[in-house]
Amino acid sequence: MKGAVRVCFVCLGNICRSPAAEAVLRRLVDEAGLTGVVQVDSAGTSRYHLGDRPDSRTLAEAARRGIPIEHRARRFTRHELSEWDLVIAMDAQNLRDLRALVSDDDGLDRVHLLREFDPSASAALGTSAGLDVPDPYYGEDDGFSDMFDLIEPACRGLLEHLQTLVVHQ
Ligand code: 4NP
Repeated sequence: MKGAVRVCFVCLGNICRSPAAEAVLRRLVDEAGLTGVVQVDSAGTSRYHLGDRPDSRTLAEAARRGIPIEHRARRFTRHELSEWDLVIAMDAQNLRDLRALVSDDDGLDRVHLLREFDPSASAALGTSAGLDVPDPYYGEDDGFSDMFDLIEPACRGLLEHLQTLVVHQ
């Protein structure tokens, strides 16, 4: 194996969905014995919460599920695109914002929606919600449980994909 496989999750504020996905995937990577082989981070498309810890409701739901979460919000920049093997958007708007940053075909190949990796999500295709992990920030607290319920199976599918990349490196 040459080097680590590098994954960055991206949402708007980097305090709810993407740090949650980062924490979930990191836990799965550790459980799979791939610590250090798969490197995980997250970032936002906005500057709204630079330097902030994850939203208290994200932290509470992560704690309820026993998932360690440690992150400070930062903004994704176009300069870092080439550093990542996969850049994973949480919703269609994040995906559009990332694609607007990408100037070459190679970069576009790396940018995906998280729920593309959820094998059970095909039923959501064509619905108004599509493959989004909806933004829970302005909603009720149970939106944070729903958020993890969407993130967890998608991250399990993503881990399977990453395992094929690790083998083929
Ligand atoms: P996130 O949620 O993109 O999942 O981190 C949001 C957090 C903050 C805001 C919007 C979405 N905001 O407008 O401050």
